[in-house]
Amino acid sequence: MSILKVEKVVSGYEHMQILHQISLEVQEGQIVSLLGPNGAGKTTLLRVIFGILPLRQGKVYFKGEDISDIPPERMPRLGMCYVPQEENVFPSLTIQENLEMGAFILKAGCKPRMEEIYKLFPDLSNRRKSRAGELSGGMRQMLAIGRALMLNPQMLLLDEPSSGLSPLLVDIIFERIKKLNEAGVTIFLVEQNAQALQCADRAYILEGGEMKAEGSAREILKDEEIGRLYLGR
Ligand SMILES: Nc1ncnc2c1ncn2[C@@H]1O[C@H](COP(=O)(O)OP(=O)(O)O)[C@@H](O)[C@H]1O
Ligand SMILES: [Mg+2]
Repeated sequence: MSILKVEKVVSGYEHMQILHQISLEVQEGQIVSLLGPNGAGKTTLLRVIFGILPLRQGKVYFKGEDISDIPPERMPRLGMCYVPQEENVFPSLTIQENLEMGAFILKAGCKPRMEEIYKLFPDLSNRRKSRAGELSGGMRQMLAIGRALMLNPQMLLLDEPSSGLSPLLVDIIFERIKKLNEAGVTIFLVEQNAQALQCADRAYILEGGEMKAEGSAREILKDEEIGRLYLGR
């Protein structure tokens, strides 16, 4: 079943149209990657899906429901969470406090959930009392994902989780994303880094606000022309 469906979406900022008739689908249980160079419109598309930026044409469906006009604050309750690329943690709060803040809209206690997240990200567990502002980029990305997981989402939207990380940390973050997916979370992974193809099931290539290609991650990885034209290889 497709958990997310984007249908011919047109959107942009003021008089500028950025996204031109964008369509894509994410099947439940998969990791689907959206790859494209800087300025392609990746973040803009995430904002449209999550309801931060209005769409001008087209539709977005989540679990079969039309969410095109649903505001972002209602999305977590529907089962979708969004981890922006930057400013995704509270720097002055500790790891533990950040996780607690992630669950503030839940009435039920959040302790058991937090322990599950610490199990998934042992590095966070060892430093519960450290302030987020003192963490390395990789740890901060894990914390930002952990915060979103406090709401127990069925689907996560991740905006360039590997950006600015050292090659070793890039491997680790993609490995954790894979583990998270194996635990049952569907993932829409926006990246400039083609390494995302190694953990994705399917991929889409966005450039200049247009969808240029789609296919299984393996097909996209093998395709030399796509690699040369869009992935800087
Ligand atoms: N708030 C904004 N106002 C006007 N233009 C914007 C805004 N945010 C992004 N853009 C423009 O939209 C285009 C796509 O940007 P973005 O979605 O951030 O791309 P990506 O995430 O793929 O790097 C770029 O040309 C960018 O300059
Ligand atoms: Mg972006």
